[in-house]
Amino acid sequence: MHLAFLNPQGNFDPQDRYWTQHPDFGGQLVYVKQVALALGTMGHRIDIFTRRIRDPQWPGFADPLDGYPGAPNVRIVRIPAGPDHFLPKEELWPHIGADWVPGIIEFYRREGRLPDIFTAHYGDGGLAGVLIAAQTGIPFTFTAHSLGAQKMDQLGATPENLAALDARYHFARRLVAERLSMNRSAVNITSTRQERFEQYGHRAYRGAVDVHDDRRFAVVPPGVNRAIFDPDARAENEEWVHQYVRACLERDIREDRRDLPAIVLSSRLEPKKNPIGLILAFARNPHLRERANVVLITAHLDDPLRTDEGSSPAEQEVLGRIRRAVGEHNLWGEISAMAISGQASLAAAYRFLARHRSVFALTALYEPFGLAPLEAAATGLPVVVTRNGGPAEIWQEDGEEYGILVDPADPDNIARGLMRVLADPLAWEHFACRGRERVLARYTWERTAEGYLSVAQRVQAGHFRPAERPLPIPLFFQDPRPENDIPLDELHRLYFEPEVHPHPIHLPT
Ligand code: F6P
Repeated sequence: MHLAFLNPQGNFDPQDRYWTQHPDFGGQLVYVKQVALALGTMGHRIDIFTRRIRDPQWPGFADPLDGYPGAPNVRIVRIPAGPDHFLPKEELWPHIGADWVPGIIEFYRREGRLPDIFTAHYGDGGLAGVLIAAQTGIPFTFTAHSLGAQKMDQLGATPENLAALDARYHFARRLVAERLSMNRSAVNITSTRQERFEQYGHRAYRGAVDVHDDRRFAVVPPGVNRAIFDPDARAENEEWVHQYVRACLERDIREDRRDLPAIVLSSRLEPKKNPIGLILAFARNPHLRERANVVLITAHLDDPLRTDEGSSPAEQEVLGRIRRAVGEHNLWGEISAMAISGQASLAAAYRFLARHRSVFALTALYEPFGLAPLEAAATGLPVVVTRNGGPAEIWQEDGEEYGILVDPADPDNIARGLMRVLADPLAWEHFACRGRERVLARYTWERTAEGYLSVAQRVQAGHFRPAERPLPIPLFFQDPRPENDIPLDELHRLYFEPEVHPHPIHLPT
């Protein structure tokens, strides 16, 4: 099969040099790359479409065609969209229909043949899928990764702050594009059933897709890279990473505590990841403080408890709260923060920390899926994870526990969850084994690729049902002049008054 991925945001390069250096270079890129590679290994022809960027700050994204070493079936195809320089994903909307989609269609026109199916990622990829399908008739699957309405919830959108939020995040464009994507896709792919019902079921998507219709949805969970995240794997820089972690612990942790296990937190420094919830849980529980230290793995920030160097204003906000908690609860000597980026180095750090019988924690307020705990578990760490979102389905099933679920809003509950593994060596063994078994059985990229292939075949066989009422495509997405922009009133209606306008007609087409 010939399958094309639509992923305008971030970018792909053969060495993954930029992963985690910007919010747009996050888990979605890992996901698309790994599914594409696994499908390529199965013998299918794969194109990953992304944006061509000619920007001295982001070198490596200028070539129109690229690929991955040892993956002859997978092409990275870079198509211009808007200006040459890097654009954050929030700024891409006007350029998808105006440049990017025509560039993709032209690319295939020159090759003389379109792919069998497109698979679109995030609302911006989804919009491209909608426009390509409208012009060529080639179907697309839609994988949202993260939906704007939930982000609005997390940011506390109100009628009063709506204009300010929209000016920064362009939620009007995003929600309308997401509604179109889930409405006009051949099928919507979610990581969990919960994602389908809770996220697509948000009132802002009412009238775009029926979450109770099994023929509009397929569940395909993402996976971990077993060659990297494994207790017995070895990174090229394995010893260096171990020494670096040791050196950071010597710098930050009191001498008498250096052999204690660590509570490992490895996520972007964003309020929604709730690192402060974890730190307060630790700070307020003397038993926990006796048994473990906290280790923050902060991608590119080397010593963020002491310096702002290299951090963005948003990260500084989170770091400020962390530092205040460290000062108020006198956590110096019990907490360390270190820069580890890239999957191989991260896995090496997990292996070092697993030897000290550490535990991985993710206490995000809401986590759509939660790949990071799966990677940690595959490498041998037991996990303590938020019960809000996808993790609830992954780490517990039919009364079986594979990891410990906690309430991220309740520091006592987080502390109790951590104590279950840290206070009892048998429990540590149990959850380290059960967690790893769970990942290997269910969550590998080979499994994900098989899932995509099966969905693509079922699309071709007519198994899924197209939406009964296709939503009209607003003019802005083809002719992005300011006067055609999606008005703020539309966002207000979608987000605050869906009952009044169950099937909004966005704008003239
Ligand atoms: O990389 C993971 C991811 O979910 C991407 O889909 C997206 O780039 C980002 O994180 C979340 O985006 P947002 O905060 O705009 O919902």
